[in-house]
Amino acid sequence: MSAAGQPSAAGLTPRPTADGAGLRTVRLCLLGFGSVPRAFCALLAQQERTLADRHGLRVLVTAAGTRHGCLLAPEGMTPAAVLAAVGERPAPPQAALPADELLSASRADVLVELTVMEEDFAPIATGHIETAFALGMDVVTANKGPIAWNWRRVAAAAAAAGRRIRFESTVMDGLPVFSLLELALPDCRLLGFEAVFNATTNYIIDAMGIGRSFDEALAHVQAAGYAEADPSYDIDGWDAACKAAALANVAMDAGITPADIDKQSLRGVPLERIAQARSNGNRLRLVTTVWREEPGRVRGRVRATELDIDHPLAPVGSESLGAILHTDLMADVFVCEIAGLVPQTAYGVYADLLHLCRDR
Ligand SMILES: NC(=O)c1ccc[n+]([C@@H]2O[C@H](COP(=O)([O-])OP(=O)(O)OC[C@H]3O[C@@H](n4cnc5c(N)ncnc54)[C@H](OP(=O)(O)O)[C@@H]3O)[C@@H](O)[C@H]2O)c1
Repeated sequence: MSAAGQPSAAGLTPRPTADGAGLRTVRLCLLGFGSVPRAFCALLAQQERTLADRHGLRVLVTAAGTRHGCLLAPEGMTPAAVLAAVGERPAPPQAALPADELLSASRADVLVELTVMEEDFAPIATGHIETAFALGMDVVTANKGPIAWNWRRVAAAAAAAGRRIRFESTVMDGLPVFSLLELALPDCRLLGFEAVFNATTNYIIDAMGIGRSFDEALAHVQAAGYAEADPSYDIDGWDAACKAAALANVAMDAGITPADIDKQSLRGVPLERIAQARSNGNRLRLVTTVWREEPGRVRGRVRATELDIDHPLAPVGSESLGAILHTDLMADVFVCEIAGLVPQTAYGVYADLLHLCRDR
């Protein structure tokens, strides 16, 4: 494994060009145009001067597409112009193109893959990434599907094509976990981890802790916009299992999928248990634990766990995510994101793009 398990292929961006101002142009193809790419474009627009002055970069979008529309501009549009062109529409305004056609026509340097995770092992998003590699592009994604379900396939495709992929926002929104291991903890091996990976379940548990029923608590978080219309993905432990598999695959070479993680649904946790934890002065959390069994197989589970109030994960609630990384050389490292919302996820995508550009 190279640092953070990323394919150690040579540098990024095959065709960045310097313009008259000496800036290197990086062309992006955005797949998916929901909340994260919109926030990412807004961040790129906000950072335009910094990108130029500090990094010598000009970032242009040559394509943006969903299943319901696209924008194709091989000459490149500024991120601000893309946002203006799409406006409040749910999808970009031109007729949709199949993803492989859009990728090919985009002549982009980097695919920014921000479609949603499919329920059947992420084949569509993985296909997008493989197509991008085959076209000579590097990839940034916040979509955990390909990393959780298909990491070895993705890593092999990157290595075969000599391309790179970064995916910081897949596990803890923008909070650096992969970059932390790769850049800040060189030579540290990740032995295992313990994490609160899902904020929706924190909300529900805390609402139940003050006397709401499960259904009332769920309705409350849905009304607040913090849960999906179909919240089972969060509540039944799949979101946490996907994040666990992604981190374990990349940083522990686990070769597992979310299906291998033993999951407990929050639905079966009685209100009394949550109230009892509170009255003990403790907190119940849906805790994800991953460890390596002898002789080497990586195992994981998601469990409702009563945490002593002094446990670092006990106060991780509401909009927060936290993880304790067990390492060989730095012992235990605790990382916590206090507000993990869309702008933080977009920042993780932005940071990934800068890392790719810096590593050229
Ligand atoms: N929101 C967050 O804070 C957050 C945090 C961490 C990770 N993520 C991940 O980041 C990714 C993007 O999140 P988001 O919040 O922006 O999602 P979103 O708002 O639900 O938007 C999803 C976008 O993907 C498009 N799409 C879905 N399937 C597609 C396909 N097969 N081909 C092309 N486009 C497709 C959708 O458009 P059409 O329906 O028109 O195709 C839509 O534009 C997701 O994988 C999510 O899990 C998000």
